[in-house]
Amino acid sequence: MLVISDSAEMQRQALAWRAEGRRIAVVPTMGALHEGHRSLIRIARARAERVIVTLFVNPTQFGPGEDFDRYPRCFERDRAMCEADGVDAVFAPSVAAMYAPDHSTWVEETTLSRGLCGASRPGHFRGVATVVVKLFMLTQPHLAVFGEKDAQQLRVVRRVVRDLNLPVEIVAAPTVREADGLAMSSRNAYLTPNERRQAVALRRALDEAERRFAAGEREAAALREAIAAMIRRLAPAATPDYIEIVDDETLEPIDTVDRPALVAIAVRFPSARLIDNTVLRPAGGAR
Ligand code: PAF
Repeated sequence: MLVISDSAEMQRQALAWRAEGRRIAVVPTMGALHEGHRSLIRIARARAERVIVTLFVNPTQFGPGEDFDRYPRCFERDRAMCEADGVDAVFAPSVAAMYAPDHSTWVEETTLSRGLCGASRPGHFRGVATVVVKLFMLTQPHLAVFGEKDAQQLRVVRRVVRDLNLPVEIVAAPTVREADGLAMSSRNAYLTPNERRQAVALRRALDEAERRFAAGEREAAALREAIAAMIRRLAPAATPDYIEIVDDETLEPIDTVDRPALVAIAVRFPSARLIDNTVLRPAGGAR
């Protein structure tokens, strides 16, 4: 497995694979790999002849006061995991290798990025969109795999790819969960044992929304309240950041679930902010 930290070298290698006619998949990550990432790698491995995993804690997607400095970094463990999973190249650049000191060009998606995490984390999706396009330029992928746990990120990336005509297929991978339902995330490591016990509330709250939806509830306000009540009950240490039901395509809030709807939640525990989501699909809905 190649381990590359230089941007120009990464691009040269990717272009050489392209010249040989190899199909390239990239799995962009910020490292601290877990089973969720490994499932993305497996999907990439099944669909391409060359798999590149990027390990880069991207400073431009963190706001002031967010967890950039303490974000878990465990390169040796990540490298070994990638090697065990049959990855062809790990691209692990420094911040200096990715951003010139006078870097002044941004990729900004201006509609889907506005609500949900975009509202609580101003500038976050501009940082994500910018680094994802840069990583695409450096790794020259035919396809890229992103997790459904970051539902808004996935939709923003798809929109950027469409709007900028990037020749990259975006493949969505289902969320991988712990035995009790908690969505895997590198940030779960921040949780205290008590918070970890309470964190099951996110998935339980989504289960409750799914159950009520299956029983015929279509009012977004009622579904949101059911979610909020479950979080209050199971996670007294958490403060909801948002509980939203939005059109799955436009990400605009909806009052009635009469078309595919993304139910997206974010809660803040004292030690970590966690997100999760599900999609409700009415039978015979508009889409
Ligand atoms: O999902 C992530 O880990 C990051 O947002 C990504 C896509 C690697 C960009 O830094």
